[in-house]
Amino acid sequence: MVNPKFGKFLKEQVDDLKRIGFLSHVRVLEGINSSKSTLDGKEVLILCAPNYLGMADHPEVMQAAKDAIDKCGAGSPAGRGIMTNSIVLDLEKKLAEFKGTEAALCYPTGYIANMGGIWPLMTAGDTIVSEELNHASIIDGCRLAKGTNRIVYKHLDMEDLENKLKESVEERSKGKTMIVTDSVFSMDGDICKLPEMIELAEKYDAFIYIDDAHATGVLGKTGRGTLEHFNAYGKVDVVMGTLSKAIGTVGGFVAGSEELYYYLHRLSRPFYFSTGFLSPPVCGAILRAIEIIEKEPQRHKRLWDNTRYFKKGLESVGFNTGISETPITPVIVGTPEGAGELSRLLYNEESIFVQAFSYPVVPKGEDRVRTIVNAHHTRKQLDYALEAFERIGRKLDVI
Ligand SMILES: Cc1ncc(COP(=O)(O)O)c(C=O)c1O
Repeated sequence: MVNPKFGKFLKEQVDDLKRIGFLSHVRVLEGINSSKSTLDGKEVLILCAPNYLGMADHPEVMQAAKDAIDKCGAGSPAGRGIMTNSIVLDLEKKLAEFKGTEAALCYPTGYIANMGGIWPLMTAGDTIVSEELNHASIIDGCRLAKGTNRIVYKHLDMEDLENKLKESVEERSKGKTMIVTDSVFSMDGDICKLPEMIELAEKYDAFIYIDDAHATGVLGKTGRGTLEHFNAYGKVDVVMGTLSKAIGTVGGFVAGSEELYYYLHRLSRPFYFSTGFLSPPVCGAILRAIEIIEKEPQRHKRLWDNTRYFKKGLESVGFNTGISETPITPVIVGTPEGAGELSRLLYNEESIFVQAFSYPVVPKGEDRVRTIVNAHHTRKQLDYALEAFERIGRKLDVI
C-alpha cells in the first residue's frame, strides 16, 4: 500500500467485515446459469437465480448475442450523446412496446437506471415519498437528488402513505411530489398496492415511479409487468426495469412518455456521460428474449405453476414463507446462524443452492434463505427440492 493511512483504513474495514461475517465466500458458477449448474466444482440445483423464464441459458438468446456481434461489433461506438448503435434504438422501441409506454431509455444496469432515472427528475424543493423497503438503487437515486425533501412510508401501508402526503402539503407545495416503490419486493416477494397508490397520487397531486425489476416477465397475464397486472396503463408516469432477471441478460431501462425519454437523454448524467453502454450482443440477446417471451406464453404459465406448486409444498410441511405473492419465496428461519446452516446443509448434503440473507439485507429476526423457482425447473427437480428442504428443516428444528 503506497499511503499508510489509506492502507490502515482498508485493513480495519476488511477486518470488521470478516468479524461480522460479511465477507463470506461467494460461490463460483462454472459454465452457464441454468436450473442445474456447476458451483464451486459441484453440480447443484439452483433455486435462487432470478432467471425466471429460462432466458439466460436459452440457445436462441445466446445465438442472437453472437449474431449481433457479427452484425454490429462487440462494443458501443461512443457516448449516447454522440452516436448510437441502431440495435440499441431497436431495443428501446421494443421495450416501450413490451411495457406499454410511449418510450424507453436503456441504461447499462438496473441499478444505474434507478440512479440515472430518479436523480435528474427530482430537483431542489421537490418531495420524494419512498416506500420503506425500497431497493438500495432507489435509495441511492433519492440520495443523489440534492435539496429534495424525503419522506419514508411504512411497507405496503397505504394509510401511512396518505398520512405522510397529508402532513407534508405545505412542504410539497414548493415543487413536484414523487411516490416511489418497488413493484415486487426483492426479499419478500410481495407486490405494491398500485391501485390505491394511483388514487392517492391523484388526490394529492403526486406522480408515481415504480421499479419493475422483479415484475418484468413475471407479473401480468403475459409477463409485461405491473401495469399489465393491475391494468394501470397510462396511470404511472415512470416505469423502471432491469434486463438482468427475467430477460436473462444485463441492463436496465426507464420507460414512460416521449418527453421523459428526451429529458433523461440530455439530463441524466449516468446516461449522458458514459460510453459503457449496452453492447450489441447484449441488445441482440434481449431482443430475442422478448420475442420468445411474447411468442411462447407457456413459459410464463409454467413459471407460475411451478411457483404455486413449490410454495404450497414448502408451506404444507410447516415452513414460514412470509407474505410472498410471486416466484420469490423466502423461507424465514429467524436467526443468522439458522439461515446460514439451512443454506449450507442444503448445498453440502442435498446439492441445492439457495442463498441465506441476514441483517442488514433483511430486518433482524427475519433471517432467511430466498428461493426463486423458474419456468425451466421440472416437477422432478421441485419434488426433490421439497423433500430435501423437509429433511434439512427437520434436522435443524426449523419445522
Ligand atoms: C428491485 C430491484 N431494483 C433494481 C435492481 C438493480 O438491477 P440490476 O441488477 O440490473 O442492476 C435490483 C437487483 O437486484 C432489484 O432487485
